[in-house]
Amino acid sequence: MKTIILKPDNNGINEAVRLLKSGEIAAIPTETVYGLAANALDPAAIEKIFIAKGRPRNNPLIVHVSDLEMAKGLGLEIPLLAEKLAEKFWAGPLTMIFKRKSPTVESRLPAEVSCGLDTAAVRVPAHETALEIIKVCGFPLAAPSANASGSPSPTKARHVYDDLNGLIPLIIDGGECGCGVESTVIAFEAGRVRILRPGAVTPEQLQEFAEVIIDDVVLADCQPSTVNRQLPSPGTAHKHYSPKAQVIAVVAESEDAFLSYTAEADFIIAKPEANTFFAKLREFDNHGAKQIFIRLPEPKGIGLALYNRIIRAAEFNVIKAKE
Ligand code: TXA
Ligand code: MG
Repeated sequence: MKTIILKPDNNGINEAVRLLKSGEIAAIPTETVYGLAANALDPAAIEKIFIAKGRPRNNPLIVHVSDLEMAKGLGLEIPLLAEKLAEKFWAGPLTMIFKRKSPTVESRLPAEVSCGLDTAAVRVPAHETALEIIKVCGFPLAAPSANASGSPSPTKARHVYDDLNGLIPLIIDGGECGCGVESTVIAFEAGRVRILRPGAVTPEQLQEFAEVIIDDVVLADCQPSTVNRQLPSPGTAHKHYSPKAQVIAVVAESEDAFLSYTAEADFIIAKPEANTFFAKLREFDNHGAKQIFIRLPEPKGIGLALYNRIIRAAEFNVIKAKE
């Protein structure tokens, strides 16, 4: 298959819509990372996403809608708290998990989009191009990050091309993604919010609306060998965000301590930042890095999302810098 790259002008948007309407997939920019989109109501189109990414069959997809109204039409139970959060954070990097309505009320979303779970994840991307494509299509788009499964998430069209060239028909090049880290994934329980994947919306921001629980999967080692409970968000168990180089996560008292500890290393990230983190991993790979040392940030604010990505990229290989 030939992969073409188009600008997000009328021509590009029309081509994306044409492909999506005909049951094809297309990579599109969002404010977080690039997404690999398909009609969320079409199981055959969803299947193409799993094949192109090499995505494990038990890792459910996020459904992207243009607004709360569209979310309400999907046959999901949307609690009042979620409506409040939608008012504040949509369009934006917050993904909310809702229960499907009882089987007697038919959910419009096929089981394939959430891998047979009785829930579905929904968000409204804060990106002009993504919103325009959803609106013109008139149906919701299932879209995971547009990388090959396991590799760092794509924040530039080039990253998508490097991973999926020949596997997808179209990439819309909307430039660099603003956030650079994925959406925050939350579930609801008895008026509380449970963070399953930390992201661009911070726990502190959510705390203004409800009690927030950070699920154990966020900071813990969730590799299948170490966890034997049912995971609330299946994606957390898989190899993730990993460049070709070995990543070593470093706990250091100070930046100086980190710098002196890694003085001999060629590839280091002393101060991970959300909008450049994934791009740096890819850039280091392109420079032939064998090892990348990354200082773990404090796990609060956006630092929690970075911490979560770094320990996964490092496959839980965390060491302490000696003073
Ligand atoms: O920012 C983002 O969220 C990007 C852009 C493209 O929107 N998308 C993204 O998708 O990061 P993906 O597939 O790479 O990650 C989706 C995460 C996974 O951890 C998955 O397990 C979780 O959301 N998820 C999806 N549906 C779920 C559900 N019904 N229950 C629990 N977790 C779910
Ligand atoms: Mg992903």
